[in-house]
Amino acid sequence: MAFFAWLEASKLAEWVRMSSEGYPTVITLHAIGMAIMVGLCVIVDLRLLGRFDGIPYEALQKLLPVAWVGFLINTLSGSGLFVAQATMFATDLMFIAKILLVFAGAATAGILQPELAKASTWPGGKPPPRVRNIAAIGIVFWLCAIVTGRLTAYIMIFI
Ligand code: HEM
Repeated sequence: MAFFAWLEASKLAEWVRMSSEGYPTVITLHAIGMAIMVGLCVIVDLRLLGRFDGIPYEALQKLLPVAWVGFLINTLSGSGLFVAQATMFATDLMFIAKILLVFAGAATAGILQPELAKASTWPGGKPPPRVRNIAAIGIVFWLCAIVTGRLTAYIMIFI
């Protein structure tokens, strides 16, 4: 806990918590990063599940590096939001669940990226069932991450 208390006492945490521009800046960046990461990942997932079949798989490959930029923005801004109230978030199950879901969602994107590079070898030009399953799970993880992220502001479950 001493570590989280130290984070919460940092200059960055004080800026986010106390200044008039700190919190609005980081929460806005968080929303932008989320829109980029989740928006692009869900397009990729839906395409792998058979939607938007006019989009070639090679085009999807180009979307994922941009999605990772969104994830970087999200991680940096999320860390700023976290340090502002680190001792509270560190013991809040809703927040912990959201972080686990975020990393699970990111893991699905990390698995799909090299799979997409092999798209030209897929029999019949269709993704194998394993790839489709990961795409479907990815959508569920992302949606649950958004819901738990939003609920973190309203429902705290302290451990
Ligand atoms: C490692 C990366 C991330 C960290 C450390 C992080 C951390 C945080 C923190 C501390 C908050 C503030 C909660 C509050 O004020 O009560 C927050 C808000 C939120 N986060 Fe994240 N987050 C990360 C990534 C993501 C991702 C990838 C998503 C989307 C799937 C996401 C969705 C949200 C949502 C929807 C909110 C609520 C925003 C609002 O109140 O308007 N976060 N995040």
